[in-house]
Amino acid sequence: MSGKKPMKKPAPKPAKAAKPAAPAPVAAGVVPIKKRTVPTPQTPRGMKDILPSEAKYWRAVRTAGERLAAAYGFEWIETPIVEETALFVRGVGKQTDIVEKEMFSFIDQGGDEMTLRPEATAAIARAYINHGMLNMPQPVKLFYHGTMFRHERPQAGRYRQFHQFGFETIGEQKPVVDAELIICAHRFFVDLGLQVKVEVNSIGTVNDREQYREKLVAYYRQHRSVLCENCKVRLTKNPLRVLDCKEPGCEPLKQGAPQIVDVLSEDSKNHFMKVLEYLEDAEVPFELNPYLVRGLDYYSHTVFEAVFPARDGVTKSAAAAGGRYDGLIELLGGRPTPGAGFAIGLERTILEMKERQIIPLDDSKPVVFLAQLGEPAKRKAFKVFDDLRRAGIPAAVAFSKDALKAQMEVANRLGVKYTLLIGQKEVLDGTIIIRDMEAGIQEMVDANKVTSEIAKKLVTAPLAPLTAPAPRDTVSEESSRKEGDFSG
Ligand code: HAM
Repeated sequence: MSGKKPMKKPAPKPAKAAKPAAPAPVAAGVVPIKKRTVPTPQTPRGMKDILPSEAKYWRAVRTAGERLAAAYGFEWIETPIVEETALFVRGVGKQTDIVEKEMFSFIDQGGDEMTLRPEATAAIARAYINHGMLNMPQPVKLFYHGTMFRHERPQAGRYRQFHQFGFETIGEQKPVVDAELIICAHRFFVDLGLQVKVEVNSIGTVNDREQYREKLVAYYRQHRSVLCENCKVRLTKNPLRVLDCKEPGCEPLKQGAPQIVDVLSEDSKNHFMKVLEYLEDAEVPFELNPYLVRGLDYYSHTVFEAVFPARDGVTKSAAAAGGRYDGLIELLGGRPTPGAGFAIGLERTILEMKERQIIPLDDSKPVVFLAQLGEPAKRKAFKVFDDLRRAGIPAAVAFSKDALKAQMEVANRLGVKYTLLIGQKEVLDGTIIIRDMEAGIQEMVDANKVTSEIAKKLVTAPLAPLTAPAPRDTVSEESSRKEGDFSG
């Protein structure tokens, strides 16, 4: 197409700017590097990258949970990270903080309302129904670990993406189940070298709670004028939640509030008393907290939280929490089936370990280094290294290094207990030298027996401690007190 382009008005001359500094001379053929202007995306607010330097803590907490699960007969389950929004609205409760304010919900490409799971219990109850677990021997004992999402205001120990390790026992109503779960929660922390105080309460049956609700509303109505705006709403929608409010007007009122134990039916009381008796027998230090009601709607009967000792007078949020949920499965469309469980906050646990200077023992650290000198030895080393690996002996090697000095530097850096040395002579003789790095003693062994010789030297305890005790001088006076003593 031809045609004259319309004449452009000449652009007004820009005001004379100061002369820019002359660019640095660039050598012919070299392209100057442009200053980067694209901002680097950051980790989303309230979420964290977990870096390799943290790995030993994560391994320790997961191992602690998995050992307990194995010992108490819980089997692993994994459910999706995304579920239908309706699952949490029905399961956790429409009027809970989680559902009202904290869910990462979205409509997917197919138009379905989905939510990043804020917790796992509702999903596990769903899985129990979906997979007909009712037909399995009861109770069904399950454990899980994974990521949860809550759109909360981030602060230390409170994130928008966090990890839980949880236990659920479905299909048994007996109080011994509640006790077993509380014992597991307590032992988890003890195994990691941490102290917790367990707070327990019973919120009874739906009927018990109905009566309690009436009493509570009547009490708080008398003080309505000092309640915060949120609690005024809670009083009509979910009055039990008023007990959790930390606002200066609301919190002191709790002390005079009616207690739920006073309205519990005989059956509910007996159930609870039995749980407490088991805890006493198991020597789990616990405290009754008559105002513990928990923020999720599915609970009934026993509820509990494990809390770390206050530090510098500041109380901590729960490290683990749970309780019985006898109505949940039915609420989700299953046959009436009792259940109980708890979940541990792994970030909070790791924070506490760091504060208490508890260093996890890193069982992935090599204890043996395999050094090779010369090409035939290098070739032999591949087989020896694989034998060690298959025997479960954590070993390291530096195949790319030729000089013995450079390899010994690696062995020293890793802090291994033994170095295996293979040279030309050893290849010909069918031997290997074992060097005890601490004692500096060497011995020669048959190459075919080296794995069993090393295994004999390493004392492998099946329940080796997960963490080293905190250094003496750094254990605060507070934490060296008797376990369970949190006064002051
Ligand atoms: P929950 O009390 O909501 O209960 O959470 C359990 C634990 O997860 C808390 O005690 C805390 O350690 C950790 N946690 C919760 N929210 C956050 C957060 N925003 N950041 C870091 N950690 C957090 C439940 O989730 C129930 N599903 C527990 C349960 C299992 N009940 C019966 N079975």
